[in-house]
Amino acid sequence: MKHITLSENIFYVGANDRRTELFENHMELPNGVSYNSYLVVDDKVALIDPVEAGFFDEYLHKVKNILGNRKIDYLVINHDEPDHSGSIGAIIREYPEVQVVGNAKTFAPLEAFYGPITNKLVVAEGETLNIGQHTFQFFMVPMVHWPESMVTYEQNTKIVFSNDAFGGFGALNGGIFDDETDISFYEDDMRRYYANIVGKVAGPTLKAIQKLGGLEIKMIAPSHGLVWRSNLQWVLDKYIQWSSHQSEEGIVIVYGSMYGNTARMADIIARGAAKAGIKNIRVYDVAKTEVSFIMSDIWKYKGVIIGACAHYGNMFPNMNLLTHEIVEFKPKDKVFGLFGGKTWGGGGLKTLTKIAEENQWDLAAESVEVQGAPIREEDIDRLYNLGKAIAEAVKA
Ligand code: FEO
Repeated sequence: MKHITLSENIFYVGANDRRTELFENHMELPNGVSYNSYLVVDDKVALIDPVEAGFFDEYLHKVKNILGNRKIDYLVINHDEPDHSGSIGAIIREYPEVQVVGNAKTFAPLEAFYGPITNKLVVAEGETLNIGQHTFQFFMVPMVHWPESMVTYEQNTKIVFSNDAFGGFGALNGGIFDDETDISFYEDDMRRYYANIVGKVAGPTLKAIQKLGGLEIKMIAPSHGLVWRSNLQWVLDKYIQWSSHQSEEGIVIVYGSMYGNTARMADIIARGAAKAGIKNIRVYDVAKTEVSFIMSDIWKYKGVIIGACAHYGNMFPNMNLLTHEIVEFKPKDKVFGLFGGKTWGGGGLKTLTKIAEENQWDLAAESVEVQGAPIREEDIDRLYNLGKAIAEAVKA
């Protein structure tokens, strides 16, 4: 196989993971994920961010195919999370003299995961490391995604190795660079990655983008997903949009329903919203669709309507994870609507209302609770009007 080059002496040596079912053991990966790593060959040799532990053999084969018997001098760790750092122990065993490069916050978690690291090089904000024709400059981007996160900028080629930032789910299907593939295929998986991993730290992400704005950047090489060299403005615009909570016109309706009555309510609400002119409406059963997909659409669209049937005086249990994620990640620029189903004393709407009040969700319409099935004209009207009112708030 031909080597994949970002520039004459910078090689892509990442791996595709299509076998892991759940990223971080809770987010589905229908299209897989890539662990990107980069090898820079110069007077010295540097490896930038390794791969998840299970891919080490494939990874080492790629590295040795390029390097032959040359040694690796530096292993740059931009981020400690094990999806990247997982093979660090195996690399050190293979190349015992390698110097591990990180910042002041890098090594404590790394050693807590993998044991003592003796050969360290600690770099600070703006510091450089020259390896010949290439000079790395390090910039701290705390909380994108962990406190120790940093990016590495190569001054000669003007490539920024951005780690999680600008990354996305989706294994790389032959096209490694943005101009080798249809980037619209990756957009949903990029936003889902953003909404469930980076979105919690949208503020620090915006700051990181501003910080890097002073650099001349010709390529963005993240640790997941496509390498960006032709559509830099496209990916920057997406990240700025998502990080500054700019919602698009549309409504996400999510329900938790045991016997289909609350589901029927969702359909009536959706019809009301559609008749009011909203074209992008996504209706989800919270017990069926894994929450990261729902969060991705909630990040995208302005309207969010949530409904739950009652369960022992509380709400349908699967709804707890979704509301937890909304409370944790705090997507902004939203208008909310609530509904619920009850047979006896209720609890679905009551719990949702409490969460909405505690977290100051902008409730743009009167909430609707229905006893039993939505079969009475009056209940149907109230549900229909809830969809219509949220649609009008979204369009306002
Ligand atoms: Fe891809 Fe936060 O690790």
